[in-house]
Amino acid sequence: MTDDRLDALFAAASAARENAHVPYSRFKVGVAIRTTDGRVFAGCNVENAAYPQSQCAEASAIGAMVTGGATGIAELLLIGGGDGDAQVITPCGGCRQRILEFARPNTPVHLCTPSGLRQTVPFESLLPMAFSSDALR
Ligand code: THU
Repeated sequence: MTDDRLDALFAAASAARENAHVPYSRFKVGVAIRTTDGRVFAGCNVENAAYPQSQCAEASAIGAMVTGGATGIAELLLIGGGDGDAQVITPCGGCRQRILEFARPNTPVHLCTPSGLRQTVPFESLLPMAFSSDALR
């Protein structure tokens, strides 16, 4: 991916993250997805007073993507953590399963702090031996 395209994905995730509804954890997360048809969809985490009803940023972004009619994730960028020396975060276990539904083993997952890109990993490294639609064939 060119720097410009990565910058655009980072900007979309960053803007979404600003809107995160996190009165309970105060932990803002933003995600941007570039779809296999070249569009960008973003999402933030949306918490709820009934804590289990909270939604991760990945779920929001995937919901927007599917609502928009896209069917595949070409790459995903995640921004989490606080400012300053925040450690990079990775998608939670449940969201790895959500991403699997629309990704390929080599789909790049860009892990970022609010100040920038820290690491890019292939999706398969995040969810080995996954349960996938292959098992249902
Ligand atoms: N969170 C996400 O949105 N995505 C992740 O991959 C990790 C965790 C959110 C859930 C909750 O609103 C907050 O971060 C703290 O767990």
